[in-house]
Amino acid sequence: FSFRLYQFVIFGDQVVVCGGVCLNGCYLFGLTVEFTSLQHVPHNSVINIEADIRALQLDSAEENNGVGVVIPTDQNSDGVEIVDKMDEDLKDEVQESAPAPDVQQAPEDHDQEILHPVHNPAKAKEKAAQEKAAKEEAEEEAEANKKRHLNVVFIGHVDAGKSTIGGQILFLSGQVDDRQIQKYEKEAKEKSRESWYMAYIMDTNEEERAKGKTVEVGRAHFETETTRFTILDAPGHKSYVPNMISGASQADIGVLVISARKGEFETGYERGGQTREHVQLAKTLGVSKLVVVVNKMDDPTVNWSKERYDEIEQKMVPFLKSSGYNTKKDVIFLPISGLMGTNIDKSMDRNVCPWFSGPSFFEVLNAIEVPPRDPNGPFSISLYIFNCLPVLILRIILYRMPIIDKFKDMGTVVMGKVESGSIREGDSLIVMPNKEHAKVVAIYCDEDKVKRAGPGENLRVRITGIEDEDILAGFVLSSTVKPVPAVTEFVAQLQILELLDNAIFTAGYKAILHIHAVVEECEIIELISQIDMKTRKPMKKKILFVKNGAAVVCRIQVSNSICVEKFSDFPQLGRFTLRTEGKTIAVGKVTALSGASSSA
Ligand code: GTP
Ligand code: MG
Repeated sequence: FSFRLYQFVIFGDQVVVCGGVCLNGCYLFGLTVEFTSLQHVPHNSVINIEADIRALQLDSAEENNGVGVVIPTDQNSDGVEIVDKMDEDLKDEVQESAPAPDVQQAPEDHDQEILHPVHNPAKAKEKAAQEKAAKEEAEEEAEANKKRHLNVVFIGHVDAGKSTIGGQILFLSGQVDDRQIQKYEKEAKEKSRESWYMAYIMDTNEEERAKGKTVEVGRAHFETETTRFTILDAPGHKSYVPNMISGASQADIGVLVISARKGEFETGYERGGQTREHVQLAKTLGVSKLVVVVNKMDDPTVNWSKERYDEIEQKMVPFLKSSGYNTKKDVIFLPISGLMGTNIDKSMDRNVCPWFSGPSFFEVLNAIEVPPRDPNGPFSISLYIFNCLPVLILRIILYRMPIIDKFKDMGTVVMGKVESGSIREGDSLIVMPNKEHAKVVAIYCDEDKVKRAGPGENLRVRITGIEDEDILAGFVLSSTVKPVPAVTEFVAQLQILELLDNAIFTAGYKAILHIHAVVEECEIIELISQIDMKTRKPMKKKILFVKNGAAVVCRIQVSNSICVEKFSDFPQLGRFTLRTEGKTIAVGKVTALSGASSSA
C-alpha cells in the first residue's frame, strides 16, 4: 500500500490532508484527514517534577500565564455526526453558497419551497443541504456570540458570608424581588436567625435554614455585561469539605470570602480553619484565580476600617503565595458588605468608605480573564471516501462530563460540568466506568433547553438507555471513541501536606481519594521514589516511608474502578486530594495509569 498526497490545506486551526490510497500503484480510494484544535497540546510525557511540586502548584500560575478567556463555544467539535453528501464538489458549493447566517431565515425558505416545489431531485437535495449548512452556521454564530461563561465557587470559613453574598447577587440582579425578601425575613425571624434572610436565597433546604449553615453546594446563575456566571456556593463547615471539593472541582475562578468581624478572620485563618484549607484545595483543584472579598466591613467591630482591611490583606498575601497563587496576577482584594449589598454591583459611595477607590465586585468579575479549562481540546477526524457516492463524514471528539448528581425525570437526568468537547441532542455517548451506552435526548444549560453546549458549561443532560440507579457520582459521560479510562490503580506524584499526629506515610496507608466527582477509599500500595526538594529530582535510593512536607511518586489502588486521566492529558480529571479523618493530608496528580480499560 502507498499513500499519495494530493492536497494539504490549513484553515485557521484546522489542517486538512487529502490523498489517495493505492495498491501496487493502482488507486483504491481517497482519504482526507482533518485535524482541529491543534493549537495547544502540552504533552509532557516526561514528568516535570520541578514545576509541579512547587507548593501544591498542580497547575501553577506561571503555567496558566494569566492570559486568555474561557470561551465556552467549541466550534470545531460536533459530537459524532454522519452527513451524506453528493460529492466533494457539492460540499464546496454548499459551503460557498450558504446564505448569511440568520436563524429566522429557515422558515421563510421553507415556505417558498412549498409554494414552488422543486421537481429536480438533485436540486432539492442541494437546496436541503444549503439550508442545513445555513442553519448550522447560524447556530454556530449564535453560540459564538453568546456571552462567555464562568463557573465561580464561593469558598471560605463557616459563616464568612458566602451564601449571603450569593443571595445578594441574585437580589441585585433582579432575580429575587422585595416580596420574596420579606418572606425570607419572616421565615428567618421565626427560626431565630434574623440576619440569615439573605443567605436563605441560596440555602434552600430545611436543615440549612434551621442551622444557618450551607450543606450542599448551592447553585444559581446571573449575568453581567460580558459574562454569564454559574455560582457554586460551597459550605464552609469542616464537616462538609467533601462537598466544597466537589464545588471547587467544577469552578474556573474562586471568590474567597473572609469575615472582617473581630475574631472571625482569626478563627478562619488559624491552623485547622477552613480559610486555609479551602485556599489549598482550590489551588489543587484548578481554581486559577481568586477574588478575595473582605466581607462584613459594615459590622460595628469593623466600621469600614482601613487598618482592619490592610491587616487582613497583609496576612493573607504570604499565605496565598505559599499556596501557589501569584498574588500580583491571579488575586485581587476587595472590601464589601454582602448583607448591605455595598460595593457589589456598583462602586462604593465615598461617604461609606473614603479610602477605597477600586472597582466593584461585578466590575472585577466582568474583567477577570482565565485560561481555557480544556487545554488539550477535542479533536476530529473526517474520512471522505470520494470515488463512490455519497461521501461520508465522520467527526469524532473526546467528550468528558464527570457526573456530580443524577435523578429520574422522564428518563435519567445527569448533572455535571463539561470538561472537554461539546454535546448535542441526539449524540450517542457512553457512561464510564460501567460502559453503558446512552443517547442524549435533551440538554439544559442554566434554566434553558439548548441544542448543544460546549466545554465549561454546567449542564443537566437527559439521557436514555441507562437507569438512574446504574449511575453514581463520579461516573463520566464520555464519547464512545476513546472513552475516559477506568482504572483500579494509578501512579501519582504526591505532595504530603500534614499527616495526622505526625504519622508516617508508607505502603499500606489508607485515605479517602477525591478526584473530580469521585470519592473513594484508596490505599498506597508502593512508594516508588521520593523527590528531592532541593534538586526537584527523584532520588535514587529506595524509600520505605516519608513524613510531612515530602513529595513522592507512589502507586495508589482503589477497590472499585474509577475514571481518571493523566494530569498531562486532562488536568481536570487528573488532579486529586487525599483526606484522612476529615483533614486534607496530601494533594497530587495522576502521572500514569495501570491496566486502564477504556474500550467501549
Ligand atoms: P456557611 O455556609 O455555613 O459556610 O456560611 P456562609 O459563609 O454561607 O455565611 P452566611 O451567608 O450563612 O452568613 C453567616 C452570618 O453572617 C449571617 O448571620 C449573615 O447575616 C452574616 N453576614 C454575612 N454577610 C454579612 C455582612 O456583610 N455584614 C454583616 N454584618 N453580617 C454579614
Ligand atoms: Mg453558606
